[in-house]
Amino acid sequence: MTAVVEVRDLSVGFATDYGEVEAVDEVSFEVREGEVLGLVGESGSGKSVTATAILRLIRKPGRLTQGSIMLGGRDLCRLNEDELQQIRGTEIALISQTPRTALNPLLTVGQQVARMFVLHAGLTKAESRKRAIEMLALVGIPEPERRARQYAHQFSGGMCQRVMIAMALATRPRLLIADEPTTGLDVSTAARILDLLRELGRETGASILLITHDLGVVATTCHRVAVMHAGQVVEVAPVRALFRHPAHPYTRALVRSIPRVDREITMEPIPGAVPSLLNAPAGCRYADRCPWVEERCRRQKPAMTEIAPEHFVACFAVEDGRAAPV
Ligand SMILES: Nc1ncnc2c1ncn2[C@@H]1O[C@H](COP(=O)(O)OP(=O)(O)OP(=O)(O)O)[C@@H](O)[C@H]1O
Ligand SMILES: [Mg+2]
Repeated sequence: MTAVVEVRDLSVGFATDYGEVEAVDEVSFEVREGEVLGLVGESGSGKSVTATAILRLIRKPGRLTQGSIMLGGRDLCRLNEDELQQIRGTEIALISQTPRTALNPLLTVGQQVARMFVLHAGLTKAESRKRAIEMLALVGIPEPERRARQYAHQFSGGMCQRVMIAMALATRPRLLIADEPTTGLDVSTAARILDLLRELGRETGASILLITHDLGVVATTCHRVAVMHAGQVVEVAPVRALFRHPAHPYTRALVRSIPRVDREITMEPIPGAVPSLLNAPAGCRYADRCPWVEERCRRQKPAMTEIAPEHFVACFAVEDGRAAPV
């Protein structure tokens, strides 16, 4: 399957008074046509920084230190700000975890969606108004004509998130990045928003990078998953394989920490602290927490190895067969 966006060896550092924080360390993955790729990991593992880097919105004291982000034959890391502006909103769209604050309180909801069509598709005002109402209907907002004349504060959290999705999909982006899109929503609203995302992804052909730390969301929404730990991607697998045969010791701990499949699934803390990303050690960043750690793990970074079709893991213990498969 073709990749819509291909991230290769991407690193992001933040200069601090204490040294360089390597928040993202040689991360590689691709999001393929029509798929939902989940990006999971504990808080602070670098998920949002990765998303921000794909949009080329890392600001000082952060900087992209290496890597490439290929989108439609172009490397986003080599484009200038004008070219990037052209891509943001049209080819890549973002929905954030705070829809209400992302919406403009001074414009009606309809005006905001319509603006996307004016700015990115060059439609006239009348056309864009019509399309905005269609879009609001598509994301399941009842009475879209009446609701289009209202302001964000008259919308519930779930309805604001629907508006954000309408804005994001208005211009039919190739890639939609959803960073914890259901934070702060109640369970059933969250489930409906995720259904909607998946459905619209299928309908509009947009690929989705879904960032979450909820493994339940991953199980129900994603096709494939990339697992991040302390700024590194440690495993990439189809969703079934990840839950049935997690290979990396970190992924195993994550999957094991799921309390019960019939309840809301969230990550439980994993023993050991997430290592400091400040002047991080050269090798595997899971070494201090790992039951299979060897001297080599601290010196050398394990490369991604394909252990089953489409199932990649970066771990010496798995490679050597020391970590028994589950
Ligand atoms: N402005 C900054 N200055 C210094 N370090 C930063 C800055 N922004 C992010 N970081 C570093 O990047 C790391 C990753 O942050 P990021 O927001 O990507 O985590 P995350 O995986 O999205 O977590 P969460 O699940 O809580 O959203 C942080 O732990 C922090 O060390
Ligand atoms: Mg985040």
